[in-house]
Amino acid sequence: MKKYRANTTVIAVDPDHPDERDIQSAAHVLRAGGLVAFPTETVYGLGANALDETAVGRIFAAKGRPFDDPLIVHIAAKTQVEDVARAIPDIAYTLAEKFWPGPLTLVLKKHPRVADKVSTGLDTVAVRMPNHRVPLDLIRAAGVPVAAPSANLFTRPSPTSAAHVADDLSGRVDIILDGGPCPIGLESTVLNLTGPKPAILRPGGTTVEALLDCLPDLILPGEPAGARTSPGMMLKHYSPKARFFLFTGARETLAPQVREVIGGLLRAELKVGVMAADEDLPFFAGLPILMESLGPQSDLDAIGRALFAKMRSLDARGVDIILMRAIQAGGLGLAISDRLIKAAHQQVIDLDGQPDAIINRLISELSG
Ligand code: TXA
Ligand code: MG
Repeated sequence: MKKYRANTTVIAVDPDHPDERDIQSAAHVLRAGGLVAFPTETVYGLGANALDETAVGRIFAAKGRPFDDPLIVHIAAKTQVEDVARAIPDIAYTLAEKFWPGPLTLVLKKHPRVADKVSTGLDTVAVRMPNHRVPLDLIRAAGVPVAAPSANLFTRPSPTSAAHVADDLSGRVDIILDGGPCPIGLESTVLNLTGPKPAILRPGGTTVEALLDCLPDLILPGEPAGARTSPGMMLKHYSPKARFFLFTGARETLAPQVREVIGGLLRAELKVGVMAADEDLPFFAGLPILMESLGPQSDLDAIGRALFAKMRSLDARGVDIILMRAIQAGGLGLAISDRLIKAAHQQVIDLDGQPDAIINRLISELSG
């Protein structure tokens, strides 16, 4: 696939009061078929005019994204959903009233006006209204709905700052609007409303607990009837360059076990990184490793906000391997766990096993 080439301009904007001239220049680029990266409350998006096939094609080229992974269409007003979807069920309006603007994406029947490439030929379209002044002003100024995936290279962790976007997409996007770090740091929840029952395709910033209030028959990720997840959501995703290992184990035995495993990795001359909740930091005291703290265990908002940024930061520091302890799945923990398990190639390592066997397994996976 040919890359999309561009001279990238980074424009700093106030996330709460973006300058109208900056918004107008970015809107002009969108109308002309170019690409604009912008902050949202979840992660940075890589936007193009959702009604323009050529412009949407450029998103796939810039990211190196496979053509079977459909994009989310962003709108600036609840009523704009009718411009991009058709045969909209009542429940969509109820959910929009309660959760928009916000981190909830609704999969609906697609309006023929939306470029086919957005939905990779499906007859459905994913729609959301972001809770962030910059994209809301931008979409309004452009006068068109904006298709935008996360603004990372394919398989890299989603970007939660403009610097992450520039690292991945410099020279492949026309404008990056730098509105500072993203307040949630995890992508939106994707909810399919076109099946027999509402089904979560991707857990995200809107919790299952909050959705269950409106949707008692909600199908959760992994449930039999919900087995079909989003197209293009391949197993490996959101990965740092380093090999990411997720571990579990009884808390009491964890400290000596994890230190022994890390000792073995260090003897094999590997550069080890660890991401940990604040409470777990003492487990690793004094070890010659690179540490990133994520915030208190009980503060899932903080952990969610930090997760992708810390993965990228350890990558930048050149580690071979990143270790992290699995977290509880309630509330935002479901979305966090989903991202961690994907980054870990679907494997969770039980640290209650034999340390030598675990060390050998990790080392052999690294070389394999
Ligand atoms: O928070 C977010 O959702 C961010 C910001 C930029 O809005 N966007 C984002 O986009 O994460 P992306 O492309 O990285 O993920 C979109 C997800 C994919 O898993 C895709 O398969 C799913 O939405 N999706 C898009 N259109 C769909 C459709 N018509 N049917 C089912 N799933 C769809
Ligand atoms: Mg993405």
